[in-house]
Amino acid sequence: MAENLFISQTSDRKKIYDEIAPQIVALVEGEPDLVANLANITAALKEALGFFWVGFYIVKENQLVLSAFQGSIACTRIDFDKGVCGHCYTTRQMVVVPNVEEFPGHIACSSLSKSEIVLPIFDKNGEVAIVLDVDSDKLNDFSETDAEGLQMIVKIVEKLI
Ligand code: SME
Repeated sequence: MAENLFISQTSDRKKIYDEIAPQIVALVEGEPDLVANLANITAALKEALGFFWVGFYIVKENQLVLSAFQGSIACTRIDFDKGVCGHCYTTRQMVVVPNVEEFPGHIACSSLSKSEIVLPIFDKNGEVAIVLDVDSDKLNDFSETDAEGLQMIVKIVEKLI
């Protein structure tokens, strides 16, 4: 596995996503432990993109249960009909929230969180098995670039489950 991330000093997020995707593939290669890999992926995303909060919720016991993350403490369990993460789970679609205060039912793990993007991760049976949640302390911080870049990360995780 790779030990250091190579990240250009740039504010161009597309360039950063393109740089880190193959490095994340190398990072998880040969390691069968899912949570260990998810932990390293959150660390890589936080280091490369400086996200306020980035983490995974795993579908378990009819809820979304907090797994590996980087950032401040967060809600441990989310019901499927609650929050942005639950909305992503039930609709099976990526959810981009430019202003969390305008999303009915948003769960505020931190009052500093202002915008959010959540992506579904599908298992080999086509079921949502995990969601990837990224929060920003800036309003409207997630664009098509993030949607595409994070989708590359989702594809890497889907190969692990
Ligand atoms: N805001 C999320 C909850 C998870 S935290 O942001 C880490 C939601 O509404 O589902």
